Amino acid sequence: MIHSFESVRREDGFGENRRERSQAGFNSNMSSDSKKVNMPRPELFDFHGVPMTHFFTDDWENVQNFKARPDDILIATYPKAGTTWVSYILDLLYFGQTSPERQTSIPIYERVPYLELNNPNVISGKDLADNLPTTPRLIKTHFPVQFVPKSFWEQNCRVIYVARNAKDNMVSYFHFNCMTRLLPEPGDWSSFYQKFLDGKVLYGSWYDHVSGWWKKKMTYPNLHYMCYEDLSEDTGREVDKLCSFLGLSPSAEFKEKVVNGVQFDNMKKNQMANYSTFPAMDFNICSFMRKGKVGDWKNHFTVAQNEGFDEDYKKKMKDPTLQFRNEI
Ligand code: A3P
Repeated sequence: MIHSFESVRREDGFGENRRERSQAGFNSNMSSDSKKVNMPRPELFDFHGVPMTHFFTDDWENVQNFKARPDDILIATYPKAGTTWVSYILDLLYFGQTSPERQTSIPIYERVPYLELNNPNVISGKDLADNLPTTPRLIKTHFPVQFVPKSFWEQNCRVIYVARNAKDNMVSYFHFNCMTRLLPEPGDWSSFYQKFLDGKVLYGSWYDHVSGWWKKKMTYPNLHYMCYEDLSEDTGREVDKLCSFLGLSPSAEFKEKVVNGVQFDNMKKNQMANYSTFPAMDFNICSFMRKGKVGDWKNHFTVAQNEGFDEDYKKKMKDPTLQFRNEI
C-alpha cells in the first residue's frame, strides 16, 4: 500500500530525505537537516479576510474544486486542537483491524492528508487525498468553515470538528510556531499572546473559527463537534460518541485497544503518529507531542495576561451555548 503514496510524493528536497529516513526505519534526527532548519519562514497576508500564508493558499483553485465523495470524513480543527489525536482514533477504528500494517508503515500525516497543505518540500495534501486508497477517506483541514470546498457539503460528508480551550490552544500553537518553519515567525511568548488575541496568526481568529464551525453545526446535522478537554477527561466515552456518530460498533475488546493506543504516551513514542518523520519540524525545540494536557496554559500565562485574556474573551465569545473548559 505504501507504493501508492510514494508514487505521488514529490521527488525533491525533504521528500527525498524523508524517503531515505523511511528506508532507514524512520530513525531520523530531524534537527540535523540543515535545509529544514534554514528554510525561510512564510509571511502572513490577508486572504478573503483571514490571515494565511501561501503554503495553504497556493493550491486554492484545486483545493476548492476537490471532489469529495459521500463517504469521505473531514476532520476539521483550529491548529493544535487535537487533530492528530482524533485522526489516529478514526484511522484505528476504521483500519486498525483490516489493515494493521498501516500502523507500522504509513505515518499519520499520509493516512489522513492535510487538504490545503501545498509546500514544495512535502506532497500536496490535495494530491494525497485524491490518491488515498482507503474507504472511507479520512481528510484533515484547518480551514475556517467558509473555506471548506463545497463538495463536502454537497456530498453531505460526515465532518468532525475538534475544538480546544483557547488558552491551551494558544500555548500549543506558540510552541508549534517555534518548532516549524512552515509557519510565520511567532516572536516571543508575549508577542504571540497578543497576536493570538488579535487573530493575527495563521488561520486567523480562534474565536471566529470555533464559533463559525459551531454555527455550521446548527444547520448541518452531519457535523460532530467535540472538545479536546472531553477527550482528555474520558477518551472511552468520546470514542463511543464518535462511533455512534459514524455508525460503528466496535467490540469492547477492540475499543479498549483503540483507547489504549491513542493515549498520549503511546502516541508520543509511536513514530507513525508522533510526526518525528515529518520534514520541517525541529524536535530540538520541542516535540510535536509536547505535553498533551489540559491546563498547561497556567505555566505560561502571567496573572496580567490571564486577566487581559478573560476580559477580551467575554467580549468576543457571546454565545452561551458554546462553552469551553480551561481545566478539568
Ligand atoms: P500540546 O502542544 O499542548 O502538547 P494537533 O494534532 O491539532 O496539531 O494538536 C497537537 C496537540 O494535541 C499537542 O498539544 C499534542 O501534544 C496534543 N495531542 C496529540 N495527541 C494527543 C493525545 N493522545 N493525548 C493528548 N494530547 C494529544
